[in-house]
Amino acid sequence: MATVTLTAQQDTDEFFKQNCTSCHTIGGGRLTGPDLKNVEKRRDRAWLIRFIQDPQAMIASGDPEAQKLLREARGVVMPKVVGITKKRAAKILDLIAAESKLEKSRFAGLSLSDRPFTEEDRTIGRELFLGTRRLKGGGPPCLSCHTVNGVGGLGGGELGPDLTDAYARLEGRKVLGAWLASPSTETMAPVFKKHPIDPDEILPLLAFLETESKEGTPATTGSNINFVLLGVVGATALLFLFDYFWRRRFTGVRARLVRGQR
Ligand code: HEC
Ligand code: HEC
Repeated sequence: MATVTLTAQQDTDEFFKQNCTSCHTIGGGRLTGPDLKNVEKRRDRAWLIRFIQDPQAMIASGDPEAQKLLREARGVVMPKVVGITKKRAAKILDLIAAESKLEKSRFAGLSLSDRPFTEEDRTIGRELFLGTRRLKGGGPPCLSCHTVNGVGGLGGGELGPDLTDAYARLEGRKVLGAWLASPSTETMAPVFKKHPIDPDEILPLLAFLETESKEGTPATTGSNINFVLLGVVGATALLFLFDYFWRRRFTGVRARLVRGQR
């Protein structure tokens, strides 16, 4: 990959896109986290900078505002974002303020069609999940790390959680769709940052997961969103493991999988 030097502004944009838009929009409504439009009109900048740097610590400290946000997010704790600094948090707030002034921010969210899912969507989604149809961005098939009930006999990977009820758990189309457009969790982020899921592939994947959600019961329990969002214990170790087998299986891939990770 060619190395491009990003300007400070582009760097902030990229950082926000890759680390925040899976859960937040600017003016597009709530996803897992609140809509950030005009956030500084309802909250103090110093408070926000502290919160963005370490949400868990802020919530644990018993801060009443953070507690209230937590309740509104139905108990989902915002993860501490890797690479966040005080300076970066301030730049992000500048970005949010500028975008909030626009009629429509480019971070208003993914414009997913809201047409009903079709049988074709479900079929394509299933193929993408299994890997019998390649993801356009070149990412590994979901099945290499996940399973769902509906693929029973095929097994599936165990690195990631069982996705049978992911559609329901992650609040359906809008929230899960945004999540897939830029997965921000520990294992998926570094993999799909380099190989993003194409917007045209999101609807079929959602259709497939919706069907699974209706028809199946997960074979394993115990993975709830908090567990996932806070990162799996030992996920870093798994990353190295994955890096290892990724490189052996895909020797042509030059991009280093864990670049930028601790
Ligand atoms: C995995 C989902 C997730 C990601 C990723 C995420 N957030 Fe959040 N964010 C939340 C949730 C949920 C809350 C509500 C507080 C809570 O429950 O922890 C929140 C709250 C906030 C708030 C306070 C909003 C308010 O109304 O006062 C700000 C500001 C914020 N996030 C900024 C960011 C920024 C900037 C990033 C990227 C660096 C980011 N968030 C990444 C989920 C996320
Ligand atoms: C490299 C392995 C890997 C691949 C490939 C992968 N995932 Fe994941 N996924 C994970 C892991 C691990 C998690 C748990 C969070 C984390 O650490 O990133 C996860 C979490 C998720 C979640 C959140 C689940 C929950 O229970 O809250 C969804 C949804 C998801 N993946 C969907 C997909 C889809 C759809 C694909 C295929 C396009 C895919 N993943 C491909 C490893 C992977």
